[in-house]
Amino acid sequence: MENIRLDITKTLSFLGENVISTYLPEAMSALKAVEDGSRPGNDFLGWVHLPSTISSELINDIKATAEVLRQNCEVIVVAGIGGSYLGSRAVIEALGNGFQWLINDDKNPTILFAGNNIGEDYLAELSDYLKNKTFGIINISKSGTTTETALAFRLLRRQCEEQRGKEMARKVIVAITDAQKGAARKCADQEGYKSFVIPNNVGGRFSVLTPVGLLPIACAGYDIEQLLAGAATMEEATGSNVPADENISLQYAIVRNALHQELGKKIEILANFQPKLHFIAEWWKQLYGESEGKDLKGIFPASVDFTTDLHSMGQWIQDGERSIFETVISVEKSKYKVLFPNDEENLDGLNFLAGKRVDEVNKMAELGTQLAHVDGGVPNIRLIVPEINEFYLGQLIYFFEKACGISGYILGVNPFNQPGVEAYKKNMFALLNKPGYEAESAEIQKRLSASK
Ligand code: PA5
Repeated sequence: MENIRLDITKTLSFLGENVISTYLPEAMSALKAVEDGSRPGNDFLGWVHLPSTISSELINDIKATAEVLRQNCEVIVVAGIGGSYLGSRAVIEALGNGFQWLINDDKNPTILFAGNNIGEDYLAELSDYLKNKTFGIINISKSGTTTETALAFRLLRRQCEEQRGKEMARKVIVAITDAQKGAARKCADQEGYKSFVIPNNVGGRFSVLTPVGLLPIACAGYDIEQLLAGAATMEEATGSNVPADENISLQYAIVRNALHQELGKKIEILANFQPKLHFIAEWWKQLYGESEGKDLKGIFPASVDFTTDLHSMGQWIQDGERSIFETVISVEKSKYKVLFPNDEENLDGLNFLAGKRVDEVNKMAELGTQLAHVDGGVPNIRLIVPEINEFYLGQLIYFFEKACGISGYILGVNPFNQPGVEAYKKNMFALLNKPGYEAESAEIQKRLSASK
């Protein structure tokens, strides 16, 4: 199998041909720090060698657990938020039929996601949908205390026990959490649920290749060994022993930082031309947003689905403030072949496309967009993926993770913490009078009445 590839030529006209060599010493030092743990965040580098070191015992345990859920559930609800659900959702949606949720095949359970919002209607409608279904739950939370997830899990668990009985519920509820601490661990141990551990040294947004991502993906019927194999090839291809002109994570990290530092580009837009990749972009936004947006620094990660969004955001990208650059995930080969038919009357005037594949039209839209955006002053990075399958998605995930670590260090932040996420939680708990937040509660009430 070949590897995914990176084309940075459409950034060099903006940055100059020497950009890679100029940034190389700094980038190599950042890459070495990701590998040897010599910079802040070094207690969260467990993801770096995960693909090549994951044990066959763990893989088999995940596969066996997935089989129990597949055998006993029409629907599996994955409860988790942020890094505890985005990776699995991204892979499942990329690999699945775009209309999967409307297809009731007996072969695969429907995978649904909850615990990633506090929408009352969302939970009510989910509960209603689950009423006559045999369903199971994968409860994922590293801290084991995240409100959104815990809230959904309490509701889902009760419904599961009521519908399926305590004994069956015990069989179809699985926890993925810390080895010792947190409410999710306590509940799993007390109830005797099957559980998996999220390694201490792997942060949420880097955890898709642990049971966090692997179990839901296996439940959906996909090949987690191929996913890991792809990631392992990227682990090798992005090591510090690989020449810079072959190391695509290093190059991506350099180019995005150079665009930011040299040209003041503030926003990176991740674009795809395959609607299946929508959640890959959601996962990527979390990865880069939480890793780099801190200490008043960071490139803002945005995303678009093309050609859909060419009819909404296209205008802004073409003619708006020149503070953006674009990274396009370009898929070489579609899974299916759809030929555009000839029409004798040609009322729509589209006979010039007769006999062409729909994908050929899509490819020309992609090329036309690239030319237009580059002409309009938007540097373009192209990430070429031969086709959407488990292997290449594994490569894509690891490529972005490695580049994110390097990039964050070049930017001068600790890419592996997320202190800013706590601010809203503190206010929410204070407003809800959570025990232990009495002082914050009083303070926030004072602020609110002063602003009335
Ligand atoms: O990357 C991160 O650490 C976060 O996005 C977490 O994944 C997210 O906040 C969920 O946390 P937890 O798994 O503890 O429920």
